[in-house]
Amino acid sequence: MKINYVSLNKQSKDQSQKLLKIFRDCLNKSIFVNGDEVSKFEKKVSRKCGTKYAVALNSGTDALTLALKLVGIKKGDEVITPPNSFISSTSSIIHLGAKPVFVDTAEDQNIDANKIEKKITKKTKAIMPVHLTGRICEMNEIIKISKKYKIPVIEDAAQSIGSKYYDKPAGSIGDIGCFSTHPLKNLNACGDGGFLTTNNKQYYILAKSLQNNGMLGRNEVKHFGYLSRMDVLQASILDYRLDKLDEVIKKRRSNFRLYKKLLDRTKIFFPDEKKYQFNTYHTFVIQVEKRDELINFLKKKHIQTAIHYPIPIHKQAAYINKFGKEKYLNTETQSKKILTLPINQYLTEKEIIYISKNVNSFYK
Ligand SMILES: Cc1ncc(COP(=O)(O)O)c(C=O)c1O
Repeated sequence: MKINYVSLNKQSKDQSQKLLKIFRDCLNKSIFVNGDEVSKFEKKVSRKCGTKYAVALNSGTDALTLALKLVGIKKGDEVITPPNSFISSTSSIIHLGAKPVFVDTAEDQNIDANKIEKKITKKTKAIMPVHLTGRICEMNEIIKISKKYKIPVIEDAAQSIGSKYYDKPAGSIGDIGCFSTHPLKNLNACGDGGFLTTNNKQYYILAKSLQNNGMLGRNEVKHFGYLSRMDVLQASILDYRLDKLDEVIKKRRSNFRLYKKLLDRTKIFFPDEKKYQFNTYHTFVIQVEKRDELINFLKKKHIQTAIHYPIPIHKQAAYINKFGKEKYLNTETQSKKILTLPINQYLTEKEIIYISKNVNSFYK
């Protein structure tokens, strides 16, 4: 048996007829940007995320940049965030001249909400938790702090479309939610894409203009903006795939349940899903001793795995050169133990049994 970490080719094959029709329709219409399909997707995805508004963009990275801009982040400000995310959770802060202030992670790899308040200073102008792996952070605690200090919350929900926390969808809990529709995400485009969500009309109006070079209509510009539009082709693909998202999530959740049943939890750690959580398993990360040996062992059994993320952001040369050395114990310990097992919706039960058997046998 040979198991790849991702199965995008299976998805492309499975959906090729419909995707080709979307491509053809797009060519026939020849309206490639700012078309009605983009507004249609925005309306549909805002409903899915439980917010009044969504703005379609060309990446999750741009969603973060625009969100930070919308809450007024500028040079010298501080933004609280965890050090164990994809690099753009931090680079988006740095590009606006602000300073990322890291808070270490809890055992589930999400930001430790109990450690946030200690890091707040007069310069703190936003809190940006990252809902890693499709699990929402402890938002009740975070929102409490946000209200106490009047600091806006930007949810980096790039990995968590459809996830819920006390029944509230990701992206609807903070002031702004930021999503990625990168090909590897649960809701994925055939290229780069992303969007932001909000209930704040001012943010919505400003974001709509900022993503289109600051234009209001065709000729007027009130604020200098960016070019960060989602194109019509990607919006049409996402509109189609959004109808399938619940199915994707259902399959990933059922894959998780099977892993939970099969993996030897005396040797393999992964956090349970709490009663108030609805996790969507963008990734399934286990924490184990002898991680690198396990990777090689699985490779020999033709099982591909991944690590999200092997080098924490504060350990990256780009960060150390700018801010010097810092230490975040849990993040660093986890970075040596974490291993992402395949969990995509195209995996079969047989394949999960094969992966679990092999992981267990390595620790026997
Ligand atoms: C947590 C997190 N934040 C931000 C991003 C950036 O999204 P994109 O790749 O669409 O720019 C990603 C995507 O990998 C992510 O996983």
